[in-house]
Amino acid sequence: MNDSDLAIVILAAGKGTRMKSATHKVLHPLGGHPMLHHLMDTVAPLNPTKKIIVAGADKEQVEASVGRIADIVVQEPQLGTGHAVQMTKDLLKGFNGDVLILYGDVPLIAEATMQKMIDTREETGAAVVVLGFRTKDTKAYGRLKVNDNGNLDAIIEFKDANDEERAITLCNSGIMLMTGEHMFDLLDALDDNNAAKEFYLTDVVEIANKKGLSCAVVEADEQEVMGINSRGELAEAEAVFQNNRRQYFMAEGVTLVDPETIYFSYDTIIGRDVTIGPNVVFGPGCRVADNVTIHPFCHIEGATIGSGSSIGPFARLRPAAELGKGVKVGNFVEIKKAEIEDGAKVNHLSYVGDARVGKNANIGAGTITCNYDGYFKYHTDIGEGAFIGSNSALVAPVTIGDGAIVGAGSVVTMAVEADALAIARGKQRALGGWASNFRTNQQNKKNKKG
Ligand code: UD1
Ligand code: MG
Repeated sequence: MNDSDLAIVILAAGKGTRMKSATHKVLHPLGGHPMLHHLMDTVAPLNPTKKIIVAGADKEQVEASVGRIADIVVQEPQLGTGHAVQMTKDLLKGFNGDVLILYGDVPLIAEATMQKMIDTREETGAAVVVLGFRTKDTKAYGRLKVNDNGNLDAIIEFKDANDEERAITLCNSGIMLMTGEHMFDLLDALDDNNAAKEFYLTDVVEIANKKGLSCAVVEADEQEVMGINSRGELAEAEAVFQNNRRQYFMAEGVTLVDPETIYFSYDTIIGRDVTIGPNVVFGPGCRVADNVTIHPFCHIEGATIGSGSSIGPFARLRPAAELGKGVKVGNFVEIKKAEIEDGAKVNHLSYVGDARVGKNANIGAGTITCNYDGYFKYHTDIGEGAFIGSNSALVAPVTIGDGAIVGAGSVVTMAVEADALAIARGKQRALGGWASNFRTNQQNKKNKKG
């Protein structure tokens, strides 16, 4: 027997009908990451040796999302939370470590809280540790009956509780830690003799006490154990998640000018002394180095931004935008799958996709890399120190050599040598006096008609 062994069981067999979605409830995202994956990520540092998800009829969706990182068992029909945990019997046969039971729709629980449950079980020798929380709005949560010695005597489901029990404000989050040693003995003793005619997991507490085993409670913050059953609750949980990230980044040395308007993804990485203006959204896969300024109204996804760079306002960085140090990307600029090397500038109204922009190159206003012919994508390579005149179209595949200059308004379809000037536009003609003659003639015609 290895006491430090940990197994996790995630209950996710519920139908989630209130989401009104073809997508399984636990696969809806928070900060761009499915709820279920949040849980898997949070438990990872605890090194669980077994990970089991209890799914319902829509097992395939869960399987497609988590792949082989967890075992999936099916609970069909769903006869209650206790019945759900019974489904793990074959997979946990002979397992004597701790079993942590999580809910797939309670994704915000912190690693520290899980660790506290494990520590409490070790310290108290309890057979069951329940995660409780206090709330003003006790709704229909199960209530925790704790005696004067701090032992948890019972969990009373709301439907089965009397008025005195309903007045208890310490509620059951549903999350529970049990020692594998006793778990199936306790589960085997469950019955469905209750108001819901379900096998309640919560009944293991009374059963354990009757067997002379003890039960303990760990308390969590209400927000950490919020459950998600509807789109409204999903939005509330998103707000909690975002607020947590905002507090975290500010504590790490990031200035958020108007925190409530800035949105992060689960994996956003931001360095120190970064300033982020209002209304900036980070999609998944972003890395921002130190001393970067992101001006208001930018949308950034899958992008890397090197130190000292300045982005926006109103810039869009799309996946595989890789910006070096001291890069400037200005207003109404879109960058996709492009390396923008140190010191390069793309300041106004441009699209740069499938490209490299060399060190210190300057891309003039309105420059477009024409990267797509309707079938394939092509690369544009712009050399170090090159200068692309405003309103140029660079028709890929095309190479602009180091130090070359492209005249404004050019449509470049052929390679430009290093240090050359390329002009590819209609030649200008100047016809002296033409404009005033034109106006005189036209005015005369108009006068005759009138
Ligand atoms: C449960 C608790 C209650 C607690 C509340 C917290 C029981 C009996 N009650 O009640 O004390 O306050 O959660 O939200 O445990 N599930 C299955 N299979 C089933 C039934 C449920 O996998 O047969 C899963 C659901 O997908 C969900 C979780 O278990 O993730 C909780 O189920 P739910 O029906 O919401 O339990 P409650 O009645 O709310
Ligand atoms: Mg519920």
